[in-house]
Amino acid sequence: MIEKRTQAGDFLYEKIGGEIRTMIETGTLSPGDKLPSVRKLAGQKKVSISTILQAYMALESEKLIEARPQSGYYVSAVSLLRFPEPLEFFPADPPRSVGVADNVMELFRAAESPDIVPLGVNCTMPELISNQKLAKIISRVSRDHSEYLSRYKFHGADPEFARQISIRSYEYGCTLHPEEIIATCGCTEAFNLSLRAVACAGDTIAVESPTYYGILEIIESLSMKAVAICTDPKNGVCLQSLTDTLEENDVKACVLMPNFQNPLGFRMSAERKIKVLDILDDYGVPLIEDDVYGDLHFNGNRPRPFKALDKNGSVLLCSSFSKTLSPGLRIGWVAAGKYSDRVLRLKYLNTMGMPETPQRALAEYLKSGGYDRHLRNLRSCFQRHVCHISQAVYRYFPEGSLVTRPEGGNLLWVRLPETVDSLELYRRALEKNILIAPGPLFSACCLTACIPNNEPCMFRNCLRLSCGSPCDERVESALKTLGQLAKDISTDSGFGTASVKAG
Ligand SMILES: Cc1ncc(COP(=O)(O)O)c(C=O)c1O
Repeated sequence: MIEKRTQAGDFLYEKIGGEIRTMIETGTLSPGDKLPSVRKLAGQKKVSISTILQAYMALESEKLIEARPQSGYYVSAVSLLRFPEPLEFFPADPPRSVGVADNVMELFRAAESPDIVPLGVNCTMPELISNQKLAKIISRVSRDHSEYLSRYKFHGADPEFARQISIRSYEYGCTLHPEEIIATCGCTEAFNLSLRAVACAGDTIAVESPTYYGILEIIESLSMKAVAICTDPKNGVCLQSLTDTLEENDVKACVLMPNFQNPLGFRMSAERKIKVLDILDDYGVPLIEDDVYGDLHFNGNRPRPFKALDKNGSVLLCSSFSKTLSPGLRIGWVAAGKYSDRVLRLKYLNTMGMPETPQRALAEYLKSGGYDRHLRNLRSCFQRHVCHISQAVYRYFPEGSLVTRPEGGNLLWVRLPETVDSLELYRRALEKNILIAPGPLFSACCLTACIPNNEPCMFRNCLRLSCGSPCDERVESALKTLGQLAKDISTDSGFGTASVKAG
């Protein structure tokens, strides 16, 4: 058969394939979107079915789209692969006192303004997680169990809640006993108690570089020191740097986020997890694992946490439902292995226990089914948001900007050219009601600690963007403005003396 050509001499199937390719590259079509059926598109374009089939097959061989049996053609997840990503290791940093807390408070205060475009704090748009069903169950549990309001309960967790966590944990390779589960006020408290169970003021804690500022804040509040381990944005902590850090420092605990780390979004392989645990075991260092994003994988199965590979109870697994269901419910938990008794005692000293009503309501919700469907929906929304926002960054940010390519979660880490100071960008963006999280917040050596000594801040040309909301017109316009501000800063002389504090 002789294929028809366009006036420009291209084959028709190439032209149609090119149009679809452009739509994928510009973000009009994102991973998971369904393409029109072959028959429908042939009708629309007034071409033969075989022309469309040929166009689709060419896009398929480029891995831009994929055929799903009995369903049609879809934009594939790897369609983002054509964008470069920052691949070099992020540096290690010697032990130091931490100074991030004031700056993080500033960020959260700014995020509360209704006029702000909140790309700086990791909040999910309420429509995605507001759950009428959960609200109804909370009402029912409150009505049926008024006794929960009139008693103290000194157990680790509501037994039904603990049982549900234990059942779910089996699906990702753990065999957590319900008695091992201690309910906490979010993952934040789980992490706080875990840290206090294994270390004291003045002790050194090993963290990833960069790491979630909430972890740094707690280390700071407990007067501990942080030592940053060199981290690969694709694979997680560098094994050699971990060994060197443990060899050279008296590290009392290590804090890692192996599944869709905040802020880099990487997923550590099972092989690397095993090696990390072996190294930590050699030095007798407990591991505090933060797995709040573990359920938010874009493809394949839910990755196993370190805890699933723990041979001797040295892993304290911390998690919560804040990223998947309800940050407002403040329900988290920790399975602390051989440190369980200490964590339980600290929990008792901290708050005596957790309210029973939200735990039981959450347990009823999990038992009733539907959570997995909710997760599936949330994951595909986040995957689309991440894709759209990274495409917008490539469209609007200065040339040479690089964006991570997370395999789950809802965060992007952007590395701008060296000439762009993200603290200055933070200040200028805030004046325009746009909130970003500047890179230095993710390093122990943040701002106040560094500037007086003229010490350069780490990640000064980086920032984190939250993709909890879709790239709608407001977000797109904010990203366009951010890109322009970054370009302005790059061309301005006087390089960065700004503090993260606004005004
Ligand atoms: C890695 C990580 N851990 C913990 C938290 C806080 O979790 P929670 O709200 O359950 O305290 C966050 C919130 O952004 C996070 O990103």
